Amino acid sequence: MSVRSIIATGLLAAGAVASPQWGGGWGYPKTVTVTSDHTVYKTVTKTGSCSGSSVTSFSSSSSHSSSASTSASASKSGSSSGSSSASSSASSSTSTVATTTTTSASNTVPTTTLLATATGHPLDVAAKAAGKLWFGTAADIPGTGEAQDPYWAAEFNSTDFGEATPANIMKFVFTEPEPNVFNYTGAEQFLSFVEGTGKLVRCHNLIWQSELPTWITNPTVNWTNATLTAALRNHVTNLVEYFGDRCYSWDVVNEAFSDNPAGAYASNVWFDTIGPAYVVEAFDAATQAVKAKNLAVKLYYNDYNIEYLGNKSYAAQNLVTELKGRGIQIDGVGLESHFIAGETPDKASQMANMQAFINLGVDVAITELDVRLNLPPNATTEAQQVLDYYNSVAACVAVGDGCIGVTVWDFDDEYSWVPGTFPGQGYADLFLSNGPNEPLTRKAAYDGCLQALTGAPESA
Ligand code: G3I
Repeated sequence: MSVRSIIATGLLAAGAVASPQWGGGWGYPKTVTVTSDHTVYKTVTKTGSCSGSSVTSFSSSSSHSSSASTSASASKSGSSSGSSSASSSASSSTSTVATTTTTSASNTVPTTTLLATATGHPLDVAAKAAGKLWFGTAADIPGTGEAQDPYWAAEFNSTDFGEATPANIMKFVFTEPEPNVFNYTGAEQFLSFVEGTGKLVRCHNLIWQSELPTWITNPTVNWTNATLTAALRNHVTNLVEYFGDRCYSWDVVNEAFSDNPAGAYASNVWFDTIGPAYVVEAFDAATQAVKAKNLAVKLYYNDYNIEYLGNKSYAAQNLVTELKGRGIQIDGVGLESHFIAGETPDKASQMANMQAFINLGVDVAITELDVRLNLPPNATTEAQQVLDYYNSVAACVAVGDGCIGVTVWDFDDEYSWVPGTFPGQGYADLFLSNGPNEPLTRKAAYDGCLQALTGAPESA
């Protein structure tokens, strides 16, 4: 079933064509309309009233009311104010979800959901068949307690995922809470959940402006260039040497560039004290650690809004050129890909950008993919989300081995970072779950990823 068949018509203006326009901020094109081919995709529209236990009957329709009064309560803490139990069973042509939904005053779950048709857990299998190293996911272990959610854990441990990224626990504040005092307890918890499962690990991240301990951000003695550089290099050296090749790669520096003006260095404690050289120092320290321990670990620069050609991407490209020119190791660039439905770079734009980095002699990886919607979601925005996921994954497939893999930034709306960061937005991940320890419902966005990996024709 092609992507076309999961872009339901009647939901989108037929015949429109992609018309990307430059956008600022997080998004790329401000308005994109998409072609659809009048294929009806069965939608799930709850016809019954929400009840505690009865299975609500569903109707299929070529279009459906987007009367969703959703205030999806997905939250990082996993505290959902509503509860529901849902089990999804997908047949070959359509999916139907038998859902019993309980709605509490503060939580109404989506009343319409574009559901996946795919069954099983083929994402990482399909990625490897397409020549990728993985289809992976971030996991906030031990942060949000998702590992204790049996439905989340079953999906995380499935063959959908061949890579795991620690969402938080390897960040500076957790690993060096006091000067030269290293705490790897949480990181070892993460690794104990992952190692031995065959998953590779993208270790994340060494130097960033966020999640820093107060001894860095509010030192008792003001930093000088020399003293802060020494602290930076010591952190990088200790973590690269401690974790060794348990990491497939490290995000050595995360998000060094600004969006305003795009491509300038962002102001942070590192830049403000050391200057742009802090990035070079971080990669140089990592390079020295790799050599000292004869490691195979790859060194990456990771950022957002560098998924399409523009000043921020050019700045990252220039960084690659500078580091290589100095003989400092950089193996890849992480394209975070935190997108907004309808403002996602189209496939051609993402391919051109990926190729620009590949031409410099580095790999690229999609490292933090999610596509958030304005809440409540509706069939139109969900269909756009499917296409945006499709185009992003298809771009990685289309450029060949230079794009080594795709990682989503968690797969379960319940544990997504989005609602807590962007009020009024959410529904960004591949699965819906209406509460911790509740069954997952697979969204059509999952099909978008799978179709891209298996080479289905593009819909637009
Ligand atoms: O661990 C503490 C917990 O002890 C405390 O009770 C709780 C309440 O304050 O906070 C917990 O820490 C939170 C942490 O996530 C772990 O769950 C922090 O407050 C919260 O700010 C942190 O947010 C993370 C954010 O990075 C900042 O580090 C998100 O989960 C994480 O998804 C997000 O991920 C970043 C990537 O690292 C870089 N690219 C962008 C991406 C999204 O912002």
